[in-house]
Amino acid sequence: MSVDQSGLPSLLPRHVAIIMDGNGRWAQRRGLARVEGHRQGAQSVRKVVRAAREVGLRALTLYAFSAQNWARPPEEVGTLMQLLRDFLIEERPEIMDNAIRLTTIGDVDRMPDFVRDPLEALMRDSAGNRAMTLCLALSYGGRESIISTTRALCELAARGALKPADVNDERFSAMLQTGGMPQLDLLVRTSGEVRLSNFLLWEAAYAELYFTDTLWPDFGKEEFLHALESFKGRERRYGRTREQIKAVG
Ligand code: IPE
Ligand code: IPE
Ligand code: MG
Repeated sequence: MSVDQSGLPSLLPRHVAIIMDGNGRWAQRRGLARVEGHRQGAQSVRKVVRAAREVGLRALTLYAFSAQNWARPPEEVGTLMQLLRDFLIEERPEIMDNAIRLTTIGDVDRMPDFVRDPLEALMRDSAGNRAMTLCLALSYGGRESIISTTRALCELAARGALKPADVNDERFSAMLQTGGMPQLDLLVRTSGEVRLSNFLLWEAAYAELYFTDTLWPDFGKEEFLHALESFKGRERRYGRTREQIKAVG
């Protein structure tokens, strides 16, 4: 049984993050253009958000577009932005009806206005929703996020508002864009790649990892539940011994 930092048994992760990978390969294997994979991948996003809400997750963070993905061909970036806009407009009623709060991490200012407009409207209108937080990582990079938090702390210190000796894990975590979210419990990556690709580098320190060969467009409720099921069997030790964990659990 997995045990969280408070020592309580935790069967269901509170916060799950997903690296939604493999859209391009899914399309290429079918002789389709990569963008068709992104289109199909958007359907998987809908299924997984719905499943997460049904099972009662507190938070779901989705890696939708990395800081490094800007380097892709402009047509592909353009399609991804269009799909994001479609998602925000089409899913708005379901997000509101299900009391989901939409948030973002990443350098959202880099997103084009036609994405930012529906995004900011939905973030504003869903801000009071409490059933689940859906966080979209947009133009996001883990290193970029650590650097911007470090910069903010340095600025506080330079103004005399913070002593360097007071910088610690807790304060640093709280200053990250994920600061208001529950601790990351489970990190999923699809498509067979076994790497983090600059996602949630700080937050993943003690997350359980789940890798699957399934390509993102083929990932749905069933495999999501399978990932949650695998979490149940994990023993989270946080550096302690199994005996110590059993004693508190
Ligand atoms: C993930 O699928 C979607 C984004 C990175 C936006 P990919 O487009 O990376 O698919 P592969 O890895 O090339 O198959
Ligand atoms: C990570 O996937 C980014 C997203 C899923 C949004 P990539 O496909 O960009 O990662 P690499 O290039 O394989 O590391
Ligand atoms: Mg990829």
